[in-house]
Amino acid sequence: MRRIGPYELKNPWVLAPMAGVSEQPFRTLAFKMGAALCPTELVSAQGLFRANSRTLRYLRHDVAIERPYSLQVFGGEPEVMAKAALIGKEWGAQIIDINMGCPVKKVTKSGSGSSLLCDPPRAAEIVRQIAAATGLPVTAKIRSGWDHHSKNFLEMADVLGAAGVAALAVHPRTRAQGYSGKADWSVIADLKRHVGEKFCVIGNGDVKTVEDAKRMLETTGCDLVMIGRGALGNPWLFRQLEGGLPPTPEERRDTVLAHFRDHVVFAQDPLSAVRQFRKHLAWYAHGLHGASAFRAEVNRLDSVDAVESAVNRFFAQAEGDASAANDDYDVDYRQALG
Ligand SMILES: Cc1cc2nc3c(=O)[nH]c(=O)nc-3n(C[C@H](O)[C@H](O)[C@H](O)COP(=O)(O)O)c2cc1C
Repeated sequence: MRRIGPYELKNPWVLAPMAGVSEQPFRTLAFKMGAALCPTELVSAQGLFRANSRTLRYLRHDVAIERPYSLQVFGGEPEVMAKAALIGKEWGAQIIDINMGCPVKKVTKSGSGSSLLCDPPRAAEIVRQIAAATGLPVTAKIRSGWDHHSKNFLEMADVLGAAGVAALAVHPRTRAQGYSGKADWSVIADLKRHVGEKFCVIGNGDVKTVEDAKRMLETTGCDLVMIGRGALGNPWLFRQLEGGLPPTPEERRDTVLAHFRDHVVFAQDPLSAVRQFRKHLAWYAHGLHGASAFRAEVNRLDSVDAVESAVNRFFAQAEGDASAANDDYDVDYRQALG
């Protein structure tokens, strides 16, 4: 089952919504590499509702490539969420995804993100009101629960299912766990068994390789696999999942340059673009010879031309470095939300 509302997805691979990462340039790149769905990062319903110009910038997308276009919103009040979703629809959203998993205090304190796990009736009301206001398929992304005493993902599936959710993604860690420990895939399997064919179940958590993704599909029975950190610096993963090849050094260089140029246009300010793109460069360089010297170099550069020449030089001849394979390059979610 790979259907979300009227959209039949071409394969089971989904890019995870990631704040400061799943922006238009990275989403279009993932789509081009073969991902079937790439929701936006979380966007504030309050910001949309107030037509905040900074928030509205998150809605930019490429209608030729981003199909279907799924907009993730966060908020806690059903009426505000419905109005925000309607604005999203006016800007082109085809699917509305609700963030019910974000663990960051700034988000949970207003009753949004993972705090919705503590109030299933309100979470369901949000789905109902968004669906009624927009007529669009509504999806949600949850964690397994608030903490290990309250793993209520099956209850969430029941109430959100009754409210008409079209797909449910689960990141099987509790809010209290943050990103520590291992994602518990048995939660995904339990959820899929419970839901059956009522709606699409999206498994998420710790998928880093083609093998991991296939194993998640096989062992949990989920319909779609959502990949976050595993796609950082490695959008080719989506192509490889469909039997394609990893990049050659030339292709890697060309892709990084094209991604950077897209980001410069997207950011609308060269210096911000250069600064924001440093993290992507660190991820792209991960596991290659000389990665740490390259990271240190680009962290000092502040012009578009200088970054382009550094990228050209480094990636044209970059080869794998087995000793760097275990570098810690995890991202801090809180930092990402800035
Ligand atoms: C930098 C970063 C930003 C994230 N931002 C969001 C977000 O905006 N919305 C959301 O639902 N989840 C967000 N997440 C959680 C991911 O979508 C995903 O659930 C989590 O990273 C686990 O999947 P993974 O092991 O494949 O990375 C974020 C994660 C990271 C690492």
